[in-house]
Amino acid sequence: MEILAFVNQKGGVAKTTSVLNAGAALAIEGKRILLVDIDPQGSLSKCAGFRNIDKEPTTYEVIKGSADINDAIRTKNGVAPYDILPTDIRMSGAEIELISVPGRDTLLKEALENIKTPYDYILIDCSPSLNILTLMALTAATGVIIPIAAQYMPLDGMAQLLPTIDIVKKRLNKRLKVAGVIITMYDSRRSLDKEIIKAVKAKFPEETYKTIVRNNSKIAEAPTFGKDIFEYDPKSTGAEAYKEIAQEIIKKGVENG
Ligand SMILES: Nc1ncnc2c1ncn2[C@@H]1O[C@H](COP(=O)(O)OP(=O)(O)OP(=O)(O)O)[C@@H](O)[C@H]1O
Ligand SMILES: [Mg+2]
Repeated sequence: MEILAFVNQKGGVAKTTSVLNAGAALAIEGKRILLVDIDPQGSLSKCAGFRNIDKEPTTYEVIKGSADINDAIRTKNGVAPYDILPTDIRMSGAEIELISVPGRDTLLKEALENIKTPYDYILIDCSPSLNILTLMALTAATGVIIPIAAQYMPLDGMAQLLPTIDIVKKRLNKRLKVAGVIITMYDSRRSLDKEIIKAVKAKFPEETYKTIVRNNSKIAEAPTFGKDIFEYDPKSTGAEAYKEIAQEIIKKGVENG
């Protein structure tokens, strides 16, 4: 089983979009998938159609130990079904509440170890911050996937992210590695985008996926309907791109044993 944390402390670079659509694509490839939302914004849960969940247990109760993870996991019936551990705004209290909890870094890892259903991939959607919740995700993960938006010079942000990954690797999680880099929101009309692709590939020659996700209005529209791109418009360039990304994720995992 691979546990992949989608991390970039820059906001709006398609972390949530990539978790949802790569997850849906992996499910279509026949993989057993769980998507975990740990972002207090709850965007992944909303994008997948889980709104108004205030009566349901979420990642927040699971981390605090007041709910069993197996009771909080829900199934999303997309083109192929996949599971989601949703969250909502309650999670915003977690950071402060957990400050004095010993061993808090491993709370998510321990919760995932209690899951009774077998999964091939667990994808974790992180908030745009290197906070305690993101540290928990990095501690639970076998790999990090970094989504990078082609329109911003992204490598400045890496100056914080990569050392954080190294620290977690040294202290909390020896198996952690950068498993992949997804370049998203590419617009071929912008010359800066091409420069950014070059720079990202130079920095992450092995890790950068060959498939580049272009700007695609269908990808931005689908969440309004609580749908992933395969439910909303399977013929779109966005659906095609995330299908290829899923295949690359599978292939890389096999290559790296
Ligand atoms: N390939 C794409 N084409 C067009 N729009 C996109 C694409 N990918 C993502 N978007 C849109 O860009 C916005 C930001 O995406 P998303 O919410 O996935 O980013 P994020 O990194 O999760 O943001 P945050 O840091 O706030 O969690 C969303 O409105 C999303 O629909
Ligand atoms: Mg997000």
